[in-house]
Amino acid sequence: MEVKNIKIVKLGGSVITIKDVRRSLRTEVIQRLIEELSLFYREYGDSYGLVVIHGGGSFGHPVVRDCISKYGKIDRNCYVDTADSMDTLNYILRRYCVVRGLPVVSLPPRSFCLLRSGRPYCFTKILSRILSRELILLTYGDVVYSDRGFEVLSGDTLAWYIASKLGASEILFVTDVDGLYDSDPKVNPSARKIAQARIDEVLGFLSQSSLDVDVTGGMRKKLYEGITLGVRGIRVKVLSGFIEGNLYSALTSNNFTGSTIWY
Ligand SMILES: Nc1ncnc2c1ncn2[C@@H]1O[C@H](COP(=O)(O)OP(=O)(O)O)[C@@H](O)[C@H]1O
Ligand SMILES: [Mg+2]
Repeated sequence: MEVKNIKIVKLGGSVITIKDVRRSLRTEVIQRLIEELSLFYREYGDSYGLVVIHGGGSFGHPVVRDCISKYGKIDRNCYVDTADSMDTLNYILRRYCVVRGLPVVSLPPRSFCLLRSGRPYCFTKILSRILSRELILLTYGDVVYSDRGFEVLSGDTLAWYIASKLGASEILFVTDVDGLYDSDPKVNPSARKIAQARIDEVLGFLSQSSLDVDVTGGMRKKLYEGITLGVRGIRVKVLSGFIEGNLYSALTSNNFTGSTIWY
């Protein structure tokens, strides 16, 4: 069976964890977001293929950052620690999904992706099988094998890669800000929100957005990756995960608190 309409939901690490407190969870937010996903799935699950990707937040970034500052790279022990930490976070999310009746199957990217010269290569046949059997793919930002040793494949990059290979219609980036602004709203209080735009209209100020928010590049990389991978004809929604009902609204309509970017 061919999967027609695929939606990819990326749950940012900043939403599901408290980024600067190690291995901390925002349990209520996680439960509510999964509740909203399951409401969507119960109502529209027959019409869409659903991919849920989560970031690392305080389970991924601090581990990787420590390794890089100590050893200048992700060595074998760091790889094991990061993988273990990410699997722990994934286990927690997976449990909530299963308890809520979402038929998720979880795969760690280190088991189906590689990075070569910084570019992802993933075995996507398994992913299409998961979707065509009416299962929800649950995956996450991870450490993977690369031609330079071990590297991070971020949840954002993975979202774009899966979107391009499986032909998704929409990516929803659920994050800790309520949309895309003309500069970082956490740095500049008078930043203005962009309700809707084509990606080429926002590239200019995105190029000025800081990259060093964390090891995977923040908002700039999130939106640039679609260009890097040459994705076209896709709708991207950037929305806050802290507003009750917002994920459900964004999944079911264009009436949500956030930004829509056209590629
Ligand atoms: N132009 C911008 N518009 C919105 N957010 C931006 C912008 N530039 C930088 N940011 C920062 O990007 C952050 C979101 O990226 P990130 O922290 O990586 O979230 P996630 O955990 O969802 O991946 C926001 O918290 C914000 O501070
Ligand atoms: Mg991020």
